[in-house]
Amino acid sequence: MSQPLPLRLGVNVDHVATLRQARGTAYPSPLTAALIAQASGADSITVHLREDRRHIQEGDVVDLLNTLSVPLNLELAAEDAILTLAEEWRPQACCLVPEKREELTTEGGLDVAGGGPRIVDAVGRLRETGARVSLFVEPDLAQLEAIVATGAQAVEIHTGAYAEAREPGRRNALLEGITDFAHRAAEAGLEVHAGHGLTVDNTAPIARIAPVQELNIGHSLIGDAVLIGMAAAVARMKNLMVHTRLSQPAAAPSYSAL
Ligand code: PXP
Repeated sequence: MSQPLPLRLGVNVDHVATLRQARGTAYPSPLTAALIAQASGADSITVHLREDRRHIQEGDVVDLLNTLSVPLNLELAAEDAILTLAEEWRPQACCLVPEKREELTTEGGLDVAGGGPRIVDAVGRLRETGARVSLFVEPDLAQLEAIVATGAQAVEIHTGAYAEAREPGRRNALLEGITDFAHRAAEAGLEVHAGHGLTVDNTAPIARIAPVQELNIGHSLIGDAVLIGMAAAVARMKNLMVHTRLSQPAAAPSYSAL
C-alpha cells in the first residue's frame, strides 16, 4: 500500500516585518523569526516582497537567502521590476500572486486563463533561474488547463474564502471545491499547495486532502507567536498537520506512478 504524501509547512514571516515597519525600528527581525521557525519544524520560509514594500524589504530577502538552510519561497507579482530581482536572487521557490496596492492582503487568485502572456512569460523567467514555480489561484477548474499551459510546476490553492466562511454548509461546499480542484490539479501533473487564512482551528480539513503537499501559513502563526512564542506556534501547527496527514488513508497513486 502506498504511503500518504508528506505534508510540508511553509512559514510566512511577513507580519514579523509588519510589526517592525509599524515603528520603523530594527526589531522584531523576520530573519530571527525564520530561524526559530526552521528549528521548530518549518520545511520552508515564505515572504511576499510587495511593490509598496509595506512589510518585507529587499534586504530581508537577501539575509534570508544567505542564512536559511530550508528553501525560501518568494511570493511576487508578475511585474518586471520584481521579476528582475528574483532573477538576481534565485530563491529556491517562487509563487506568483496577484497584487493590488490598496488591498489588505492577497485577496484573490491569479486569473491565469484571462491573464494573457504576462503570466506565461513570468513563469518562463522564473523557471530559467531554477526555481520551483507555483501559481496562487482560486480552486476554479475552468483555470486548470491554462495553469498547466504556463509550465509552472505547482499550484497554490487560495483557501481564504473557506477560512472566512462561517456557515457550515457554505464552508463544506468550499472545502469540496478545494478537494476536487486539488485532485484534478495533481492528476494534471501539478504539485498541489494551499494557503491563506489557515489557523489551528481550520487547517485539519485541508491537511486531510491527500494530494496537498505544502501549506503556507503566516498571519495566524505570527499572531499565535505573540502569545505562546514562535517555536511553540510553529511546532503546534506542524504537529497538527503531520498527525492529520498520518491518520489518513493513503493517497491514490498519481498517473505518472502507474
Ligand atoms: N499563500 C499566499 C500565496 C499568500 O499570498 C499568503 C498571504 O501572504 C499566504 C499563503 C498566507 O496567508 P496567511 O497570512 O493568511 O496565513
